[in-house]
Amino acid sequence: MGQTCLAAPALRASSDPADSYREVRLSVRALTKAFHGRAAIEDVGFTVSQHEFVAVLGPSGAGKTTLFRCIAGLLAADGGSVRIGMSEVTPPTRIRLREVAVIFQQFNLVNRLTALENVLAGRLGYVPAWRGLLRHFDRSDRLLALECLDRVGLMELAPRRADTLSGGQQQRVAIARALAQRPTLILADEPVASLDPNASTGVLDLLHGIARSEGVAVVCSLHQVHLARAYADRIVGLSSGRVVFDLPTARFDENAFGQLYGSQVTDAVAHPYSRRILEGKRTM
Ligand SMILES: Nc1ncnc2c1ncn2[C@@H]1O[C@H](COP(=O)(O)OP(=O)(O)O)[C@@H](O)[C@H]1O
Ligand SMILES: [Mg+2]
Repeated sequence: MGQTCLAAPALRASSDPADSYREVRLSVRALTKAFHGRAAIEDVGFTVSQHEFVAVLGPSGAGKTTLFRCIAGLLAADGGSVRIGMSEVTPPTRIRLREVAVIFQQFNLVNRLTALENVLAGRLGYVPAWRGLLRHFDRSDRLLALECLDRVGLMELAPRRADTLSGGQQQRVAIARALAQRPTLILADEPVASLDPNASTGVLDLLHGIARSEGVAVVCSLHQVHLARAYADRIVGLSSGRVVFDLPTARFDENAFGQLYGSQVTDAVAHPYSRRILEGKRTM
């Protein structure tokens, strides 16, 4: 592959706030999970601090979703540990539902509910179960939900049913729902994989802004190199379930690219879309 692609600057990483001390929000150590005796992730470790946007980059099947599900406590890891803030949350302790918000590729909204009601679901960890079941939320929760919708630019769509919204709008509602949780960490698993380039930019701009302004630590899995390079402060490369590099975005180079994609490099570079990116032509 040519040098040009890797010489292109990361677009947003340099707007990093002061290099002052930052609290570690997520610490993953030696995390391992196998399915039917075959490792999906193996000995995975990395940390993420407040204000940081870290991309987990890897091809399909690399183990990104398994990693995120283990961190979020949606799947029990076979070994290793996950620490959220100061708390150990790997077995046997359950993840603290308030602190970690998860954003999925398929948005995971309740279609028949309004945008506002979906965002209110982010408050379920804060209200008694019976009130959640009856969807009986306080005025303060409703105000917060509206503020979160406003934060993602969708205040006017509050009364609209989720299934009448575009994919980009649905993902922004999912981000608002995550914000309503008042999380310290957001895990976004390929949040733009189902979106067109414009909507993808909107969603990643939002997640990046949330890391910067609200201080939330954001871990975002992606399989597109150019998006990781444009948005991330650091890139953790995952290949066949293992971390093959963990680098500040500015140090992501041809060598790292090769470690990640190995023999797929030739195929990837042959694709016209990849060539445009590798030649440094942004298509979005
Ligand atoms: N529930 C499951 N049962 C069996 N194998 C699984 C399951 N989930 C994931 N895997 C396997 O684990 C590996 C990693 O998958 P995944 O975490 O989905 O990767 P990615 O999200 O990077 O595409 C793949 O080989 C996949 O087939
Ligand atoms: Mg996945």
